Amino acid sequence: MTSAAHDRLLIIDFGSQVTQLIARRLRELNVYCEIHPFNSVTDAFLKDFAPKAVVLSGGPSSVVHENSPRPPASVFECGVPVLGICYGQQVMMQMLGGRVEGGKISGGGGTAEFGRAYVTPSVEKLDLLSGWFQNDEDREQVWMSHGDHVAKLAPGFEVYGTSPNAPYAVTADTDRHFYAVQFHPEVHHTPKGATLYENFVRIAGFQGDWTMGAYREEAIRKIREQVGDKQVICGLSGGVDSSVAAVLIHEAIGDQLTCVFVDHGLLRLNEADEVVAMFRDNYNIPLIHADESELFLGELDGQSDPETKRKIIGKLFIDVFQKYANQIEGAEFLAQGTLYPDVIESVSFSGGPSVTIKSHHNVGGLPEKMGLKLVEPLRELFKDEVRALGRELGLPASFIGRHPFPGPGLAIRCPGEITREKLDILRQADAVYIDQIRRHGLYDEIWQAFAAILPVRTVGVMGDGRTYDFACGLRAVTSVDGMTADYYPFSHEFLSETATRIINEVAGINRVFYDVTSKPPGTIEME
Ligand code: XMP
Repeated sequence: MTSAAHDRLLIIDFGSQVTQLIARRLRELNVYCEIHPFNSVTDAFLKDFAPKAVVLSGGPSSVVHENSPRPPASVFECGVPVLGICYGQQVMMQMLGGRVEGGKISGGGGTAEFGRAYVTPSVEKLDLLSGWFQNDEDREQVWMSHGDHVAKLAPGFEVYGTSPNAPYAVTADTDRHFYAVQFHPEVHHTPKGATLYENFVRIAGFQGDWTMGAYREEAIRKIREQVGDKQVICGLSGGVDSSVAAVLIHEAIGDQLTCVFVDHGLLRLNEADEVVAMFRDNYNIPLIHADESELFLGELDGQSDPETKRKIIGKLFIDVFQKYANQIEGAEFLAQGTLYPDVIESVSFSGGPSVTIKSHHNVGGLPEKMGLKLVEPLRELFKDEVRALGRELGLPASFIGRHPFPGPGLAIRCPGEITREKLDILRQADAVYIDQIRRHGLYDEIWQAFAAILPVRTVGVMGDGRTYDFACGLRAVTSVDGMTADYYPFSHEFLSETATRIINEVAGINRVFYDVTSKPPGTIEME
């Protein structure tokens, strides 16, 4: 593991919606951390992981219920600082000899508390709260979200902060460096939350040595070790993740890497040329430009069901990689730009199946089918860290800042049946839309923006004539990780100027809609 040389912090996940934010706050402090679900943290795992500190996340369960999630008792015996948050606080109290009472939600009588609250300090100061309570009112805003509450502290613990509904808002056993808070310091609405984490990792003795420079060197060493003298192929989509993975792997093993850029005929205007030029001009990486558009568009002909379309595309990607892998002597590895959120999401907390909203294209089926082993050098990184690594590797800024583009490409922005005519219209409309966004200096404020061609024709009038053309949908969202999103609040001027330009400049469209759905309940892509 590339992180082995660093001090590591373990986050034990009890299913909170915001556990990933804990990791974000810690990574911002240059601390290496990993999230693991409580049921995978065994004594043996702990020994092997050797954390320098542990954070127990929040979660939806109630410790008063039998069979509610618990960490192994050894977490409290390995001599490292532990920070419990919300459910993490309660589980800590319960396991160390305190008592928790159920609130309304779990059938008890106490009050639940959700949202903004204010913590005031005790007389005695706590190192964890250093930098807090410096405002005039001597209180700090925090974000609460709990049904149950601690009713009796575990032996050795003292109270260091209270809120009107949480007499044990901040508690600690300073001898053992166990800290337990009722609120969520990781969320934006706890303004001094980052300071609390900073204090915690300082107390635990972290050096803050998790830098992209160090990551790059370690990742290169690890890739060399894994691959030896074998050949690697890397599916390049032109997106940031696969591009960064390719450049990193190339730095590690040079000519042993061959990139395959699959043009499935579902790319944006000029995309294939731009991506191929970017790689050929900037890097001397062997690159196969596989024009497979006939194959993909042929198989998609007449298909209108979203899942069928996605599955056809996923399978054809596999076939195409297979074809090129067979042509490369000694190809034993497939490189992918898998990110940390993909890895975490794939862990089923409950152990049960989750509902498939969409079959995201990934090449998870590849290794077994092709006998290829995976090289995934970005598995430990969040998206913004991948961008930082890209900058560290010297990728052009324009490339690093590109909006995400999905594997199935324009197929999922063309609801219903896909035709070449519709794809051409869509490419033109999308190019005008993105041009508008760039001209107005909004590109970097938006997580992702694109045009879609809706499966409907409507009547319009242009000049003195009747039109009967397609409707175009515009989407632009803000997001941190693509998991949730909100629509971007363009001005009416921007929207009307853009609609006019699209209708004037793109033959085949006579009406423009702006999508104001957030995710959930919508998704970012149309299909
Ligand atoms: P949704 O539509 O699920 O999209 O809200 C969330 C993010 O994921 C991208 N996306 C994909 N990326 N293969 C990908 O590589 C896919 O099949 C795929 N489907 C959606 C989407 O563009 C957004 O950034």
